[in-house]
Amino acid sequence: MRTLAIIFLAIFAVHNVQPARILGLFPHTGKSHQMVFDPLLKALAERGHDVTVVSFFPIKDPPANYTTVSLEGIAALGLETIDLAYFDNPNTILSILGVEKILKQVTEFQPLADLATGICSKIVDFAPLADALKKSYDVVIVENFNSDCMLGLAHVYGIKGPFVSLSSSALMQWVPDRMGLTDNPSYVPIVSSEFTSKMTFLQRLENTVMNMYYKVWYRYAIQLKEKAIIEKRFGRRIPDLQDFAKNMSVMLVNTFHSMNGVRPLLPGVVEVGGMHLDHSRKPIPHYIERFLNESEHGVVLFSWGSLIKTASIPKYKEDIIVNALSKLKQRVIWKYEDSDEEGTLSGNILKVKWIPQYELLQHPKVIAFIAHGGLLGMTEAISAGKPMLIVPFYGDQPLNGAAATSIGLGKAISYADMTEKSLLEGLQSVLSAEMRVSARRASKMWQDRIADPLDTAVYWVERVIRWGDQDPLHSAARDLTFIEYNLIDVAAVILLAIVFIILVLRIVVNQILRLLSASMSKKEKLH
Ligand SMILES: *[C@@H]1O[C@H](CO)[C@@H](O)[C@H](O)[C@H]1NC(C)=O
Ligand SMILES: *[C@@H]1O[C@H](CO)[C@@H](O)[C@H](O)[C@H]1NC(C)=O
Ligand SMILES: *[C@@H]1O[C@H](CO)[C@@H](O)[C@H](O)[C@H]1NC(C)=O
Repeated sequence: MRTLAIIFLAIFAVHNVQPARILGLFPHTGKSHQMVFDPLLKALAERGHDVTVVSFFPIKDPPANYTTVSLEGIAALGLETIDLAYFDNPNTILSILGVEKILKQVTEFQPLADLATGICSKIVDFAPLADALKKSYDVVIVENFNSDCMLGLAHVYGIKGPFVSLSSSALMQWVPDRMGLTDNPSYVPIVSSEFTSKMTFLQRLENTVMNMYYKVWYRYAIQLKEKAIIEKRFGRRIPDLQDFAKNMSVMLVNTFHSMNGVRPLLPGVVEVGGMHLDHSRKPIPHYIERFLNESEHGVVLFSWGSLIKTASIPKYKEDIIVNALSKLKQRVIWKYEDSDEEGTLSGNILKVKWIPQYELLQHPKVIAFIAHGGLLGMTEAISAGKPMLIVPFYGDQPLNGAAATSIGLGKAISYADMTEKSLLEGLQSVLSAEMRVSARRASKMWQDRIADPLDTAVYWVERVIRWGDQDPLHSAARDLTFIEYNLIDVAAVILLAIVFIILVLRIVVNQILRLLSASMSKKEKLH
């Protein structure tokens, strides 16, 4: 009877979690990032935990036990703000030199630093955040992207963790070290590249230099500045933010190997790509459904996401696109902010202000997707099994385009060099029977999981609540110094030993030779 009770208790202890107090800290202004995190936070509240979420995008109608702390007004939100003209003038001299793409990456990342330090210097004085941080929590969930300000603030208010981090993209270059994860640039492409894990010599060279650059850049352009901001505001020294960053119990990453490529992982680095997908089919607006129903050859969905302002497209470029699309026998639905309430129809193209993207991708009449390669749209497309034509613009989009090409989910073409011909050829390849078959296969493989990704994410958060830092999930590499980790001290000793052995051997050999020649000359003399 007693053993039974103990077994029962053990099972109960493993599978049940007492309602916990969970704090989510999300200081980034990109809406698409928050769209990945919200379903997890909601799911945790629905399981009976008490969830407090600090973000720029407080959810409407929060469930019971879900408190929102809004950062709205602290910084401008990232929504339809990117002007397409920016991507139109590649500098030809630089592109001949082959450094244009590197410069583009470097200039693209700088705003992330200004954004992070700008927001950090405001939230240190933000009373609603301070009120939230003064309470105590069983686990803290933070976004792992362009800032560690929240970790420093949590420390100031006495929050000890444990911490779980979320990444809405593949890991940024400065993140793997925090878990002691290897990111060897010989085969792990950096987030802003357009490489896969098989690289040529020049690609490995660029990948290695950029990998090192970003780590140093993050340290000096963001992490040390945020520490200084917090110290100035609170008038006292705090530990290095990197020490807090290295105190993550688990990192949940919005990727899955069959789509994003195989990378080294650790028990505490868990791929949960697809956890944000809402499988409850919401209704499609009537006028869009009619347009789908009446299409004879299917519909191509066209959207460049929530950040890019499609209406800022230069006229000549729009002409190229419209000319190419009007040659298709399929119909096209184009997400385009400047259109009428019920859509603007011209020829086979329906321009629509806002589209229920995932619902449309799942619709049987939608047969392909023209996208920018943002990870969310790509996740929706692979889940729905629809082939993609990717026109990458910035961030991780070139990387995602390369990944989609390598798994047969689609094809990527350049925006700057886009012609009617390149667009049409890309579309024809994406609409081909082979591509539609391979996209369906990629989809089945991507869906084939040990557990639903949202359940997986919930499991890991609750595991951290249960065990905290008694359950190390990182590798010991994170506590090694650069010299220890790279075995530079060991290599130096081995090298010295080799030199020593060579020197000794030389002396011995010389000695033998001398003895030999001495005895030879003795013999000669004797003759
Ligand atoms: C809210 O959280 C408390 C614990 O903090 C728990 O006891 C209660 O059941 C939760 N309520 C709901 C509706 O989940
Ligand atoms: C790291 O986290 C543990 C709890 O998980 C905590 O006890 C410890 O103080 C933290 N260290 C730092 C430097 O915050
Ligand atoms: C579209 O077709 C479906 C299935 O044939 C039908 O149920 C739906 O009412 C149609 N919608 C419109 C707007 O015509």
